[in-house]
Amino acid sequence: MDDGAAVSVRGLRKEYGRIEAVKGVDFDVAPGEVFGLLGPNGAGKSTTINMLCTLVRPTGGSATVGGHDIVRQRDEVRRDIGLVFQEPTVDGYLTGAQNLSFHAELYGLPKDVIGDRMRRVLDIVGLWKRRDDRVHTYSGGMRRRLEIARGLLHSPRVLFLDEPTVGLDPQTRVAIWGYIAELRELEKITVFMTTHYLEEAEYCDRIAIIDHGSVVALDTPEALKATVGRDRIRIHTDDDEAAAAALRERFLVEVAQRDGGLVLSVPSGEEFVPRLFSGLGVPIRSVQMTRPSLDDVFLAYTGSTIRDAQDGGRTGDDGAEGGEAEGGEHVNDANGVKGVNGVNGAAADSGDVRDDVRDDVRDDVRDDVRDDVRDDVRDDVRDDVRDDVRDDVPGEDPGDVRGEEVRAHGRD
Ligand SMILES: Nc1ncnc2c1ncn2[C@@H]1O[C@H](COP(=O)(O)OP(=O)(O)OP(=O)(O)O)[C@@H](O)[C@H]1O
Ligand SMILES: [Mg+2]
Repeated sequence: MDDGAAVSVRGLRKEYGRIEAVKGVDFDVAPGEVFGLLGPNGAGKSTTINMLCTLVRPTGGSATVGGHDIVRQRDEVRRDIGLVFQEPTVDGYLTGAQNLSFHAELYGLPKDVIGDRMRRVLDIVGLWKRRDDRVHTYSGGMRRRLEIARGLLHSPRVLFLDEPTVGLDPQTRVAIWGYIAELRELEKITVFMTTHYLEEAEYCDRIAIIDHGSVVALDTPEALKATVGRDRIRIHTDDDEAAAAALRERFLVEVAQRDGGLVLSVPSGEEFVPRLFSGLGVPIRSVQMTRPSLDDVFLAYTGSTIRDAQDGGRTGDDGAEGGEAEGGEHVNDANGVKGVNGVNGAAADSGDVRDDVRDDVRDDVRDDVRDDVRDDVRDDVRDDVRDDVRDDVPGEDPGDVRGEEVRAHGRD
């Protein structure tokens, strides 16, 4: 175990009956890092995240989050983390602000800090102005941003995001990544996210590629790409024969003539191209450079492209669709749920108990929120009436008439 790590995982396993969802994974995530778990459908990403967030009990191995053991110190872990589930969980019936109040209640945030904190997180995700609108009037991207704001509300040390941008248009996905980068700067938190979008994995400092429950590669996107291939450069010149000879003799690289141009592979294209221009001795008309993609990396490590893996229906292949969560495996309980972000609509193990608890908690908090709103309105009316009385009856003690005025107001 790495004691200084934000997340430290050793031999972590989860079996559902005969389905091995996670087969013993090891990795450490440094504080302040954006760490991505990349893999196709059914690879074990959500199961891993749910174990780290204490929603699913591991079958074997161990892990710490913020230095706390995910099995023995669940409450401490829950206090330290924010979680944005794969499935949407904000309540459309409530306003954005009420959804956050709901969450603040669940976390027991002190009343005097809630206002400031709410303003800060809503500002970060650009929703402050829409805070009093009901969430069902928000776009999909706005709802996702609200979920991220909610995940940040209690200042977590580690924010877990399970497929944060799934189902969103490319523009909104880019915007959400902008927010994540910004909040890492502003809040100095560690971000642990899953994705099956290769282009999104590029935003991470490091990526673990997970396939069939095992981590098959782990490094920075650049290093992973460097392990599987070299940069490919295609050039068109005024004299391809002379250019090919110069490339072989002076630059010592193999070159192929293809499609009316020259194609070569080099380890570091961005360093090679300037040398090419200065030393080739033949006028160059165009240069095109292609770098290995994460899809090439995925292919190299798993034997299939990520898209093929998904089209192949991994979950169906291994019979996982027929699997069931085992009774008693689920670690949510009335006490546990209280500490977990986004509990209304959680996407971890299925479970009637979870649904019941979720509904109860939601009803309780919604009632509380309604009571709070009612109290606020009552206070506002009182203040208005008191002001009116002061204005209308100069010289009289407003305290004496207030009762009459309030009663009169009530009858109107
Ligand atoms: N509650 C459960 N009961 C039985 N099997 C499960 C349960 N949860 C997950 N599994 C199985 O475990 C495997 C990993 O699922 P998981 O949800 O972790 O995948 P994922 O990588 O998050 O996939 P996706 O990209 O589709 O979200 C799958 O085979 C899945 O069917
Ligand atoms: Mg998932």
